[in-house]
Amino acid sequence: MPSVLILNGPNLNLLGTRQPDVYGKTTLADVHGMCKDEAARLGLTITFEQSNHEGVLIDLIHAAKGTHDAIVLNAGAYTHTSIALMDAIASVELPVVEVHLSNIHAREEFRHTSYIAPVAVGQICGFGAKGYLMALDALSERLVTT
Ligand code: DQA
Repeated sequence: MPSVLILNGPNLNLLGTRQPDVYGKTTLADVHGMCKDEAARLGLTITFEQSNHEGVLIDLIHAAKGTHDAIVLNAGAYTHTSIALMDAIASVELPVVEVHLSNIHAREEFRHTSYIAPVAVGQICGFGAKGYLMALDALSERLVTT
């Protein structure tokens, strides 16, 4: 069964209480539960992780090589700053789908730049927690056809 790492970056542990007008009231535990159900439906196994630390996220991306077949990544604010995360993704050569709950392109100018996008297979943003399920769906098709 294909295995997908779902990786969440800084401040996403506060989902549900953090700026609910922007990010909604769904908690990260709720997102995990929704992803488990969707993965079972799609025939995928998932590992769900969150860290507020850039280096930990990089270590988890490195460890994914040989362990997981793909990554769903919401890198939070590191999306807009981290060349190191971009390099880590390029190094492991695993398909990565970039996810954001909010539509980063409709927000402040500094959120329009993503260092993840050039090394991702695609980007899903603006659909709230459903974006994670859309990412799993897109990856499941890709993992059976590639
Ligand atoms: C986010 C968007 C980022 O700009 C922000 O820094 C986050 C969350 C999202 O899911 O919409 O922390 O990645």
